[in-house]
Amino acid sequence: MKVFVSKTFPAEHGALLSQRGYDVEFGSDFAKARGADAILTFLTDRIDKRIMESIGPQLKIIGNCAVGTDNIDLAAAREKGILITNTPNVLTEAVAEHAVAMTLGIARHVAQADAFMRQGKYRGWEMDLFMGTELRGKMLGIIGHGRIGCRTAEIFQKGFDMNIVYTDTVRNEAQEEKCHITFMSLLDLLKTADVVSIHVPLLPTTRHLVGQNEFQIMKETSFLVNTSRGPIVDEKALVEALKAGKIKGAALDVFEEEPRLAPGLTKLGNVLLTPHIASATKEARGNMAAMTVNNIIAALSGQTPPNLVHV
Ligand code: GLV
Repeated sequence: MKVFVSKTFPAEHGALLSQRGYDVEFGSDFAKARGADAILTFLTDRIDKRIMESIGPQLKIIGNCAVGTDNIDLAAAREKGILITNTPNVLTEAVAEHAVAMTLGIARHVAQADAFMRQGKYRGWEMDLFMGTELRGKMLGIIGHGRIGCRTAEIFQKGFDMNIVYTDTVRNEAQEEKCHITFMSLLDLLKTADVVSIHVPLLPTTRHLVGQNEFQIMKETSFLVNTSRGPIVDEKALVEALKAGKIKGAALDVFEEEPRLAPGLTKLGNVLLTPHIASATKEARGNMAAMTVNNIIAALSGQTPPNLVHV
């Protein structure tokens, strides 16, 4: 059996595939995936119907090494009977911690202050140098209260005494009571929250969920944090909103057209930008690799893979 792996992959996990006797082929060119029974993919791979067909009808599984599966045409995979797996749970902590880091980073100007020091601009203590915003007692609005949104809320609630409001397509009243969180419509959340943190998957219904109209509604003192998927935020509208002072700042780990950034974004002082690294901890990435390999081995052995995405 042949397994195609589309990027360099931790050797110890890749070795598990060869030890099974699979012919493992590495490379970024999907032409080399022709004849593969399994492909191990990443969020940067666009797996559409054409690619599935070019690989051939023997393709059984697409093991995506990510929790999001928006890079794959799920409907085409279902039509062809190809299994899709992802890596839930193991990156929840890493992403939630990064959302916290980004929030603190933008609220306290950490990156700008660091650049200021390195540029030799520090001339001594000043009462108003890099004045930031405290989080304690403020309102955190979570858009998408799934595993990652829930954990992010918990860290802010326990660590910073923040009040939590959330919005989601489904309301979970039992959880609201247990976790002391309040459900709101998206519009009410945007009107109320001091920090808005996005944790929804990218779907046709979530593309540009936050755009020009939403920035009009948000508080001028608020921060937007996005560690989910770039296209959920209209990035051009965000640049305009930041320039016009519609919101105070934005911390982004994901972008609409990675690796490209919207014109003007890097010129703004009130943004904090990281290169899609929210799940980049040794712990999370190691577990994601192991999970993806397990899923592929299960599917190729005729078992149901543990992290099957139901499409
Ligand atoms: C990362 O963005 C993931 O979806 O795993």
